[in-house]
Amino acid sequence: MIVLLPVLVLGLALVSWRVVRPSMTRRQPQTHIAPEPRTTRPVGLVVGPMPKNAIIEMVGVTKWYGREEGGRLALDGLDLVVPSGGVFGVLGRNGAGKTTALRCLLGLIRPTSGVCRVLGADSSSDLHRVINRIGALIETPGLAPSLTGRRNLALLARLDRIGADGVERALRSAGLAERGDDQVATYSLGMRQRLGIAAALLRDPEVVVLDEPANGLDPAGIAEIRRLLVALAAEGRTVIVSSHLLDEAEKMCDRVAVMDAGRCVAVGPIHDLLATAGAGGVLVGIADAEAARLALAAAGLNVTIVDGRLRVGCPASDAARITELLAAERLFVNELRFDTPTLEDFFFGLTAPAGTGALP
Ligand SMILES: Nc1ncnc2c1ncn2[C@@H]1O[C@H](COP(=O)(O)OP(=O)(O)O)[C@@H](O)[C@H]1O
Ligand SMILES: [Mg+2]
Repeated sequence: MIVLLPVLVLGLALVSWRVVRPSMTRRQPQTHIAPEPRTTRPVGLVVGPMPKNAIIEMVGVTKWYGREEGGRLALDGLDLVVPSGGVFGVLGRNGAGKTTALRCLLGLIRPTSGVCRVLGADSSSDLHRVINRIGALIETPGLAPSLTGRRNLALLARLDRIGADGVERALRSAGLAERGDDQVATYSLGMRQRLGIAAALLRDPEVVVLDEPANGLDPAGIAEIRRLLVALAAEGRTVIVSSHLLDEAEKMCDRVAVMDAGRCVAVGPIHDLLATAGAGGVLVGIADAEAARLALAAAGLNVTIVDGRLRVGCPASDAARITELLAAERLFVNELRFDTPTLEDFFFGLTAPAGTGALP
């Protein structure tokens, strides 16, 4: 595994390796206290056909941290398949096991049991065969603020014997070519994070693995990262990104896996998953909500009052009928919109509300 070190992209990824030494990771599952029974959570909602062109596979991966009583089960039989192309989101609350899963994939830690494969190579034994095709950012990038962005990248590139062309290409891909000669100290947080991603792009990788790249950024910075990841996928790379920011994931991911307590509880194309979250409904803003509720209920519609608005459980095509029924009672609508289920609705409908760490 030590052989893999130089080729893992960032300095901090190296730090991660040192922190989690192999000797700390060879745990036997039977030395741990038994996990909670699995029956309390929904299991494995798979929406859509299984992808055939898998570039990442995790099969039955478990990971225990610590061997004494109080050891922690971070991955609990995780199964995950990531197809080639697009942006794949690994979603879940803090503590769900996202970082642990990505570390196992990148060979930074060894799973207690199970198999991780990236581009056909086993992450625990022969990742070196494919490591040049993978770029990763697992922690906040370690950048020298007094140096320019270009210089920071050049130093990292030198470790991997990558020339100036590679540095320029990575800067361009991360949208930093024009600011490359400015000191990193003058960069916004979003730009620093993009420089970290540029470092992960130095080898022009086909697979880019990013752990919560938008963490701690303001909305503008988050949007910068989102645009960058979508652009990387448009260049033909496969982007795997973990996030607890569900609204962001909804905007940028083609496919997602939802993790909860170390397991994958749902996976599929994002729009198909949302379609399973329910049909949505029609939201109606109106001055006399109670009178309107009675009028619609009398017509057989399923209607509730939520935050002063009516929520009518019906397809969007019933909107005209709703306005007609209300107008007949001289009740006039001042707002009407379709209530689309969000990834957040889906997520909370699927995962246990407590016991798996902090809320997103
Ligand atoms: N080095 C570690 N030692 C002990 N427990 C850890 C370590 N890293 C993570 N954990 C625990 O493993 C679980 C999963 O953590 P993590 O993979 O970081 O989740 P996420 O990235 O989804 O927030 C959490 O309960 C966390 O506290
Ligand atoms: Mg994490």
